[in-house]
Amino acid sequence: YINFCTPRERKYILEVLVNGLKRLEYRGYDSAGMVLQIDGGNSTNTDNKGPPIAVIKQRGKVSALEEKINSKKLDFEFKFSTHTGIAHTRWATHGVPNCVNSHPQRSDDNNEFVVVHNGILTNYKSFKTFLQSHNYEFESDTDTEVIAKLIKYLWDNRESETIQFATLVERVIQQLEGAFALVFKSRYFPGQCIATRRGSPLLIGVHSKSKLSTDNIPILYSSCNKTNPDETVIQLYFFVKSMELLSTNQSMQLCRLNSTTELVTQNGESEGIEFYFASDASAIIEHTNQVIFLEDDDVAAVVDGALTIHRVKRGKSTESTTRTVTSLQLELQQIMKGNFKSFMQKEIFEQPESVVNTMRGRMQWEEQRVVLGGLMDHIDEIRRCRRIIIIACGTSYHSAIATRQLIEEMTELPCVELASDFLDRETPIFRDDVCFFISQSGETADTLMALHYCKKRGSLTVGITNTVGSSISRITDCGVHINAGPEIGVASTKAYTSQFTALVMFALMMSEDRFSKRKRYLEIVNALKELPEKIKEVLTLDAEIKKLSDSLYKKKSLLVMGRGFNFATCLEGALKIKEITYMHSEGILAGELKHGPLALVDVDMPILMIVSKDNVYTKVQNALQQVVARHGRPIIICENDDEESVKYASHILKVPHTVDCLQGILTVIPLQLLSFHIAQLKGLDVDFPRNLAKSVTVE
Ligand code: F6R
Repeated sequence: YINFCTPRERKYILEVLVNGLKRLEYRGYDSAGMVLQIDGGNSTNTDNKGPPIAVIKQRGKVSALEEKINSKKLDFEFKFSTHTGIAHTRWATHGVPNCVNSHPQRSDDNNEFVVVHNGILTNYKSFKTFLQSHNYEFESDTDTEVIAKLIKYLWDNRESETIQFATLVERVIQQLEGAFALVFKSRYFPGQCIATRRGSPLLIGVHSKSKLSTDNIPILYSSCNKTNPDETVIQLYFFVKSMELLSTNQSMQLCRLNSTTELVTQNGESEGIEFYFASDASAIIEHTNQVIFLEDDDVAAVVDGALTIHRVKRGKSTESTTRTVTSLQLELQQIMKGNFKSFMQKEIFEQPESVVNTMRGRMQWEEQRVVLGGLMDHIDEIRRCRRIIIIACGTSYHSAIATRQLIEEMTELPCVELASDFLDRETPIFRDDVCFFISQSGETADTLMALHYCKKRGSLTVGITNTVGSSISRITDCGVHINAGPEIGVASTKAYTSQFTALVMFALMMSEDRFSKRKRYLEIVNALKELPEKIKEVLTLDAEIKKLSDSLYKKKSLLVMGRGFNFATCLEGALKIKEITYMHSEGILAGELKHGPLALVDVDMPILMIVSKDNVYTKVQNALQQVVARHGRPIIICENDDEESVKYASHILKVPHTVDCLQGILTVIPLQLLSFHIAQLKGLDVDFPRNLAKSVTVE
């Protein structure tokens, strides 16, 4: 969503929206849509409902929507200038991907109210029945359409002609259960746009064409309580420190941010403020890096260019009444593909730098110390805890599996849980537990719900995320940003190795005072130092792996076997193969082979074995023999000097040696590359695998 203080050319607004959608496409990509309201100009307004709202939707990717916009003679001529537009790219939860089910959803044929939604409603059925019984006709199978119809119902039954748009939205969300980030437009409220969230992420980008920077202009929210003490209205102000920027002789001035308070720069230019609402900063980063993260139940209203945030207190909660504007470090070029064929490929090759960024400033090489600043205030509490419980989904869960053994070794505490299963089992949690939540996006619904569950039970919560300002990073008591840089490819790669690295650093930090662990501690610190160079060496296998993919891409299945520190590599490698090549793949704990999976082994079954010279080397050799005895000829990933394993391999991929607990970082990269090349050979879209979304904000 965008709002400009001064009317803009529709072409410009369309471009901003389409580009924004493209940057968000990795989150969901089965259909897309947008609305524009013609706020200015001599728009035909024959039905007294306010200026018309045009809705354009298309099944498929954003490029299909773009083509439709460019090629089709649209029913409505956008020949006027406009202030606002809303756009959405969908990942279906209710209803198949098609035009009708895509967003925006509308209240009626006249598009009186339109809404886009990220999330999932759990109580929409009862409202649908209620609204249908009041003759509101539904056209889609989505949960979202209920929201558009419900706001129209409240409008149709309003008690006062002066009811505000934001008030209607507040009333709507009081009825909703589930997760949502919503943006509304209405024909009755031209020049207004309302956004709100609960559970799903939503941020506001603030941009002024005048060259403002937070160095000289810290922007703050100021709150003022209205007569009703249960309500809080937060208005956007900012303090201007630098005298030159305003025609004022005060050194500090408070400005309300709206279209009428124009900032005058030294060279006399003045400009109003533009607002952007988005699920994710990557959609708006080319326009601004100044963002406000909305909190649950905030209702943000842009009315004629001025922003206010309104909230109604729920229960006894002590909600904050200020919102800070955060300056993001994200660069546009970080979310561009550059010379790579796909984001996934780019992200695989970024790993030598991304692990350095995870360690930067935290590994104090000379002192041989690890300082995770985000945990310092709570480190004593963490050291005293009874259990460490690491909770995550998918690849993030695998990073916990990969490091569990080391964390248990260094802390002598038990750990690790799969978020959805953790919730299903209603796992007992106590005040002296420390719960870690690992999530690249920081928004995964299962992980987020597990976080709320643990907070309620009084445990200390720690977030390990890659997304500044994400829900998990904000809700947890403390945490570590993995600093891997934006990960756009749906298949997680660099986030995995950075999560892995961060968890290893955590294990080190927990054990730095333990004399009995000192030797092990130093061995790992030294290995971390050499890790980026070793990752570079593994990446040189790319051409060889590409060749190997030729012999595999027509196969139906691939089994990945290993144990000990490499078991996580088997799970993660198999997940990469499944999600982007659509081949069946299974990560098998080599110790379990004889208890079932061995029945799958024959001369035709593609098998990949991970062998490292660690404490389970002999056991993995046994598994290798069991496979070979059933005429299996596995592809083997092993260390450079492993002459024994080579004898039984159909193909060998040699990686450098590192300390056992970090070897998994070096063994997983060949599997990331293999899945990438197989998907390429199969002609599949590596960055947008079918049926998946990058950020799974639904349960
Ligand atoms: C696989 C993948 C997913 C995510 C999972 C959790 O490549 O990306 O399995 O790891 O959906 O996502 P985050 O880490 O954002 O919580």
